[in-house]
Amino acid sequence: MTNLSYTADVARDTASVYALLKDQYTADHWETLAPYIAEINRLKHEKNAVILAHNYMTPDIFHGIADIVGDSLALAREAAKTTGDIIVQCGVHFMAETSKVLCMDKKVLLPDLKAGCSLAESITANDVRLLRERYPGVPIVTYVNTSAEVKAESDVCCTSGNAVKIVNALDADEVLMIPDQYLAQYVQTKTKKKIHYWAGSCMVHERFTANDITRFRAQYPGVQVLAHPECPPEVLTASDYTGSTQQMIEHLETHKPAKVVLITECSMSDNVAATTPSTEFVRSCQLCPHMKRITLPKILECLRHETPEILVDPAIAVRARVAVERMLELSK
Ligand code: 13P
Ligand code: SF4
Repeated sequence: MTNLSYTADVARDTASVYALLKDQYTADHWETLAPYIAEINRLKHEKNAVILAHNYMTPDIFHGIADIVGDSLALAREAAKTTGDIIVQCGVHFMAETSKVLCMDKKVLLPDLKAGCSLAESITANDVRLLRERYPGVPIVTYVNTSAEVKAESDVCCTSGNAVKIVNALDADEVLMIPDQYLAQYVQTKTKKKIHYWAGSCMVHERFTANDITRFRAQYPGVQVLAHPECPPEVLTASDYTGSTQQMIEHLETHKPAKVVLITECSMSDNVAATTPSTEFVRSCQLCPHMKRITLPKILECLRHETPEILVDPAIAVRARVAVERMLELSK
């Protein structure tokens, strides 16, 4: 059994991470996290594992152990080219499935199989087959926040970072976007094509209201409001910028606002604030209960025992992969 104490070696190995995160974790709290960070980093090198972490992971994971961080699009791109033998997906189930579909020869691990997504749960493969009958000849653009079975029934995938580009690249006047009604309505404001959509939504972003934005502006004069396209239309209209989590980071790097509020999952602000000291981050703050299932102790157990592993039926994977690769090709 490995020693998980806060030794001098652990303190030394994690000092640079703690320097970034000292405003977010007390010294006592850090002493409980650092041994996990040191041991996970040791084990991932021993096993040639790559840790992919979404922008919604907590800062200890995001800054402490991840090899690649980013939005859903960046993680899919990196999964497609990784040379590791094992991928540990620090994110939710659909992200791990996307990695598996792109890397069938690799072992893909998800530290908690219950880390799901309200969007992915809102639609089944059978729903998509029925939609095909209802909208004959209309291409189906499927958000990556779906199961591999749903992707397999689709023409092409999209993420929040490339949805407009993918829809506009299709040779069709009408498009069916599934399953996020709000992402679809946002895309409708950016394209001349007619967008039909499914009525799914993200349980985190749907909770924001235009009133929240009014309150932020009143309480923090001059605050820049950046919102995720999974938010309802009135929230996006009241915001200064709309983009995926990665696009928000790029916007911050370019515009360097003095004060900002990110209308998205809460950990995102913690992660970016650690490396952007010149900007004051107003906390929004909505947590995704699925993303929050991923913790350092579960990641360590998962890497040690190489379970839970994500498996996808090869017949489904082949078809889902076509839709994901078409997205990667069109979004280059
Ligand atoms: P992006 O990181 O692609 O913007 O997606 C946000 C999200 O909610 C993922 O579950
Ligand atoms: Fe799904 Fe929303 Fe959580 Fe992302 S934040 S995993 S879209 S429920």
